[in-house]
Amino acid sequence: MQRILVVDDAEINRELLRKILEDDYIVETAAGGEQALHRLQREHAGMSALLLDLHMPGTDGFAVITEMKERDWISRVPVLIISSEHSVEAENKCLEMGVSDFIHKPFESSVVKNRVKNAIELFAYKRQLEQKVEEQAEALKKQSQIIQMQAERLSKAKPFNRLMMEYRSVIMEVETKLKVLNAVFSEEYKRNPFESIKSRLKTPDSIYKKLEKKGYSFTIENIQKYVADVAGVRVICSFPDDIYRLAELLTKQDDIILLKKKDYIETPKSNGYRSLHLILSVPIFLADEKKYVKVEVQFRTIAMDFWASLEHKLKYKKDIDNTDEIELRLKACADSIEALDYQMQEIRDRIDRPGDYSPLHEQEGSAGSFHAKE
Ligand code: GTP
Ligand code: MG
Repeated sequence: MQRILVVDDAEINRELLRKILEDDYIVETAAGGEQALHRLQREHAGMSALLLDLHMPGTDGFAVITEMKERDWISRVPVLIISSEHSVEAENKCLEMGVSDFIHKPFESSVVKNRVKNAIELFAYKRQLEQKVEEQAEALKKQSQIIQMQAERLSKAKPFNRLMMEYRSVIMEVETKLKVLNAVFSEEYKRNPFESIKSRLKTPDSIYKKLEKKGYSFTIENIQKYVADVAGVRVICSFPDDIYRLAELLTKQDDIILLKKKDYIETPKSNGYRSLHLILSVPIFLADEKKYVKVEVQFRTIAMDFWASLEHKLKYKKDIDNTDEIELRLKACADSIEALDYQMQEIRDRIDRPGDYSPLHEQEGSAGSFHAKE
């Protein structure tokens, strides 16, 4: 038989409820809140329901529910309030705190019987469902751990290391191409088209997560096919027009294939993000073959980069308040940065005057595109 705890300061009520319920349950009683909490402390897990009076001297019904909520007992034992309290506020307050039912005094014995039975059944059903969900979540977690372990094993295997070597090589190729362009620029125009380059190879863990998000398993073929940014090169320029000039010079080299272009400068993301992204296919020359490898090249100005690194932090921090307000302020900063970038560019143009812009050593064919006003 299931066990029930009846808590009421009036003995007559305790006995009345015992009579109603004792055919179906083992009925235990407590004369006050303090005693009830002691009883629950010992065996809340074995208790099928709690019938609780609200108004009692000392620790009253509200205090008992509050304590049960704090200790998370309220999610294990269904609580039915039996009270002469008729205010809607009190009833709502109890329901909001998680009690299962509210029975008004004076009560009808058949109603009490039915409500207790229903509350216990419903609660058990809910618990069962919760347990099932927990079990499924646990099973999923295990499954994902197994896959992750397989991915880890693969990431230590030879073909994977070879693939990563290819991505490292393509980064070197692109960096060299950019450095050559930089040398040409500084020789001919006495200025640098970019401030700095940052490169990174995606970690196995991050490759794994990206494939998982897209619904693909962690294999060499899927990495090559579906992850375009294993090799990443970020080019930080001083001015917006340098970005387009450099991107054009790079993409028009006859061994480079432009696979995809996302111009978030022309069409910024709604959060304010601005950068030019190119997915390129670039050949690397291995011992016995020439192989095209994908690389993501991002171009942004110093100011855009400054913005993006702060905004990136916001995405990965989960415990900050007022994210809406921060997002709004970041968007405003992005807009100011855009205005600032173009103002600086205009000032540079004034300082450099058109005459100073011409190449020091005119070279056939190449000069025109360097002048292009994009
Ligand atoms: P990812 O799956 O994140 O690579 O995005 P995607 O495949 O849709 O490509 P997209 O060109 O939009 O973004 C590629 C990369 O640009 C990202 O991995 C980030 O490094 C950067 N990026 C894109 N959007 C944002 C942004 O809103 N904020 C910041 N800080 N970086 C961004
Ligand atoms: Mg990416």
